Amino acid sequence: MKKVLLIGADGMLGGELKERLEKIYDVEGTTIETLDICNKEAVLAKAKEVKPDYIINCAAYTNVDGCETHEDLALSVNGTAVANIAEAAKQEDATLIHISTDYVFPGNLSVEKIYTEDMMPNPVSAYGRTKLVGEENAKKAEKYYILRTAWLYGLGGKNFVKTMLKLSKEKEEISVVDDQHGSPTSTTTLCEIIEAIMEKEPEYGIYHSTNEGFTTWCAFTRKIFEIAHIATKVKAITSQEYKQMYPQSSDRPTNSQLSKEKLHSVGIYPDSYEVALEKYLKEELKNM
Ligand SMILES: NC(=O)c1ccc[n+]([C@@H]2O[C@H](COP(=O)([O-])OP(=O)(O)OC[C@H]3O[C@@H](n4cnc5c(N)ncnc54)[C@H](OP(=O)(O)O)[C@@H]3O)[C@@H](O)[C@H]2O)c1
Repeated sequence: MKKVLLIGADGMLGGELKERLEKIYDVEGTTIETLDICNKEAVLAKAKEVKPDYIINCAAYTNVDGCETHEDLALSVNGTAVANIAEAAKQEDATLIHISTDYVFPGNLSVEKIYTEDMMPNPVSAYGRTKLVGEENAKKAEKYYILRTAWLYGLGGKNFVKTMLKLSKEKEEISVVDDQHGSPTSTTTLCEIIEAIMEKEPEYGIYHSTNEGFTTWCAFTRKIFEIAHIATKVKAITSQEYKQMYPQSSDRPTNSQLSKEKLHSVGIYPDSYEVALEKYLKEELKNM
């Protein structure tokens, strides 16, 4: 049975991935309590002990607004620490699977166009800058996959869908940004993509890894409420209006639509965001 060192195993993605991979692989999961990825010696020692075939890094500093005020910490976790993990992968001849983000792109592409893996990143936020350093460091592993995902939500963590469901109970109308375009992605779909990558072992490199289809946060909220039969009104606002309401919030790309052509070329076809959302809500609404 192949061995997997799963870093960040108690996060929103890591938690679900651990549960799924344990059915097929010998998985050792670590959390910030058991392995701080900023501690290089500890990372190298853990990899030496586990001798993994794969190291999957789901750990990150994911508070996008928090990264603006804590960029040093974000850089350590999202950027510098990834070099520790890449070195560990290289030493143990393991394949590194590292999770990155659509926020590495500037997002100023016109909305009729989409970003391919070979286009130039140029982040507009501290989160994006730190994750881009992480990508560069992940490439230091000889065998690596960098999976750029976006607008992630899942059962085991705080996320946009849960926030909208909660707000719908408290307000008659919610204002949501309607000029940022991207693909909401369920952790279940991302787990499926990771499993398919591990099974197919395509050429190493960067793969855009989101659900299919593009929407805005506002249209997505309307879809959530439609599926969940919620009557709360959704008012479309611009990013500029949002920034006036929340001046501390980070700038976000207007267009973070990622092409999935490369994923298709290796035989991986993610669900549409609507299908993934329905599957998620079926479970989430049972818990509410
Ligand atoms: N969430 C999104 O919308 C989104 C979008 C695009 C890409 N991504 C990427 O997807 C991946 C998974 O995201 P997620 O939403 O599942 O994240 P998450 O729920 O925030 O999980 C990240 C985990 O990393 C842990 N961690 C933080 N610092 C660490 C350190 N120094 N050493 C070890 N572990 C540490 C966190 O522990 P604590 O909770 O104790 O801090 C947490 O358990 C990340 O790479 C993220 O950047 C996420």
